Amino acid sequence: MDPAVDPTTTSAWAALGADAERIRATTLRALFANDPGRAEAMTYEVAGICADLSKNLVDDGVIEHLLDLARATGVEARRDAMFRGDRINTSEDRRVLHIALRIPPGGSLVVDGHDVAADVAAVLESMGDFTDAVRSGAWRGVTGERLTTIVNIGIGGSFLGPKMAAEALRRSTAAGLSARFIANVDGADAERALSGLDPATTLVVVSSKTFTTLETMANAHVVRDWLTDALGEGAVARHMVAVSTNAEAVAAFGIDAGSMFGFWDFVGGRYSMDSAIGLSTMLLIGREGFADMLAGFHAMDRHFATAPLEENLPILLGLLRIWYSGFLGAQSLGVMPYSSDLGELPAYLQQLEMESNGKGVTRDGRPVSADTGPIVWGEPGTDGQHSFYQLLHQGTRLVPLDLIGVLAPLSEHHASHDQLMANLIAQAEALAFGRSAEEVAAAGVPSHQVAFRTFPGNRPSTLLLLDELTPFSLGALVALYEHEVFTQGAVWGIDSFDQWGVELGKALATAVADELVGGPRGPHDASTAAAIARYRAARARWA
Ligand code: F6P
Repeated sequence: MDPAVDPTTTSAWAALGADAERIRATTLRALFANDPGRAEAMTYEVAGICADLSKNLVDDGVIEHLLDLARATGVEARRDAMFRGDRINTSEDRRVLHIALRIPPGGSLVVDGHDVAADVAAVLESMGDFTDAVRSGAWRGVTGERLTTIVNIGIGGSFLGPKMAAEALRRSTAAGLSARFIANVDGADAERALSGLDPATTLVVVSSKTFTTLETMANAHVVRDWLTDALGEGAVARHMVAVSTNAEAVAAFGIDAGSMFGFWDFVGGRYSMDSAIGLSTMLLIGREGFADMLAGFHAMDRHFATAPLEENLPILLGLLRIWYSGFLGAQSLGVMPYSSDLGELPAYLQQLEMESNGKGVTRDGRPVSADTGPIVWGEPGTDGQHSFYQLLHQGTRLVPLDLIGVLAPLSEHHASHDQLMANLIAQAEALAFGRSAEEVAAAGVPSHQVAFRTFPGNRPSTLLLLDELTPFSLGALVALYEHEVFTQGAVWGIDSFDQWGVELGKALATAVADELVGGPRGPHDASTAAAIARYRAARARWA
């Protein structure tokens, strides 16, 4: 394993520390005033996405030193190792090859003498054939009816990507098809998703990389009972399919091998929406639409793999995150899509960023020496403006934002779209440049209100504008985030592809579940023991 460089020991890190003093003493107003070419120089166009980085709290010196930091920590070498198929997920000893999922038809990626792109193509082919059959009506339910509602059962990466894509690609979805999602082990989730559905027209996709995840297995049994109660045991074969890497467990559940779509351990759950986990997406938008989405992913992959560091958008975005957390004290990253159709993007990115980079040890097992991944949160604009934007404009915390918009309207209501885009652009302007006390007073505000109505500005944002929201641009956008996450992890020297941090809670929940329905075992601390006892007492009233 190549040892991780401690980024804080590099000369670039020291230079950035000095840069931070200079940046704290200046303003975005001054940076723009001193450089009329700033906006143009800091705007990048990649794969149908225009990214304006100019409203970030950086100058040329900062960018230069961030790029030095990327070089000193070996970001490019690590990227190349990923694309080659090296086992860069060291704690699990796995390759990291989600990029192989979107190699164009006819391409190849030979790893240890085996063409993984050919495996991917074969699965895509069978997904495509199944999709065509369902959409044409060649594949029908047991009563002979067409299957028109897809219920995806899965959680984490087996849910967030497909759900986000279903909403984002609403306009690319065939008429008459729709999807619902069950993730939480809360029975209310299944109840809500199944409410009003006709089992005879429902296709259930059980999505789970491991096919052992407690929530998904519990929900799969609930839904199987719902189907078989209405349609008999024969319903499973026509109404349930599985997506997994675990053929044995799928068979044990009772789903036929011919109704299983596979993928591989080199695809992490949060990097899997373009694998067979995207079966519900393909059913909605068709195999051609899915191919367009993969092409969007691939276009961004090629940019990430080949563009020089100083023009490499994912690398620049990743480095900006490091700048804000390492040098300007930011704790979080706000992602605000100005598009209801992209409303699930923040939730999707929470897993992508926080499960990947929420780590406290380096890939060689030493404690990290700087803060790692930011807390990611967000809501669609303009909803957020009428809620938490107060803090963003006048609060005491620095919250860098990604503001995301789509140029082409996503509804027939074009006047609303003008308003939506006006809000997006105006927010970025207001956050960056604010309104000084002098300007407020000059506008006639009474002097006792001036302090309250002053906007300090200097609040950084990155503006991401998609030409349109299509399968292609969604793929490119998601790949952009995947690779900026990669960049951050590479600089910090962490393993962005494991997720050991979710394990302890799972193990303890299994033990506690036994105690809730069985007898006390423990030992637990007094607080945990009291919560168990309280639940057991409550349960005695209804069990
Ligand atoms: O618990 C975390 C996790 O392992 C995620 O990484 C993953 O996306 C999710 O659970 C679901 O896992 P699976 O697809 O195996 O059901």
